[in-house]
Amino acid sequence: MSDERFTREERIRLANDNERLSMSGSIRLQPNGPYIVTGPITIEDADGHVITVAEGKQIKLCRCGHSGTKPYCDGTHRRVDFVSRPLFEPEPIAAASDDES
Ligand code: FES
Repeated sequence: MSDERFTREERIRLANDNERLSMSGSIRLQPNGPYIVTGPITIEDADGHVITVAEGKQIKLCRCGHSGTKPYCDGTHRRVDFVSRPLFEPEPIAAASDDES
């Protein structure tokens, strides 16, 4: 649900643990390459600069640390033979931890 009285940025600032925004962006880890970010999503850097990736648009963020255009990927990961390990492990089943109490 969207409240039209507020801009998207204002809604993000007003969000709390009990409120979910209607965003459905995603981040995919390209094997041996960048993070591929698909909008709609808003990203804020450490200095408070915000970029918005529009719905269906993609940006690639450097994961190897060698890009000359950080935070964006410029393809340098191929030249430096970046290896993206480790990968995510499957999450443990919540019920298993409940049985341990
Ligand atoms: S991931 Fe592509 S340049 Fe770093």
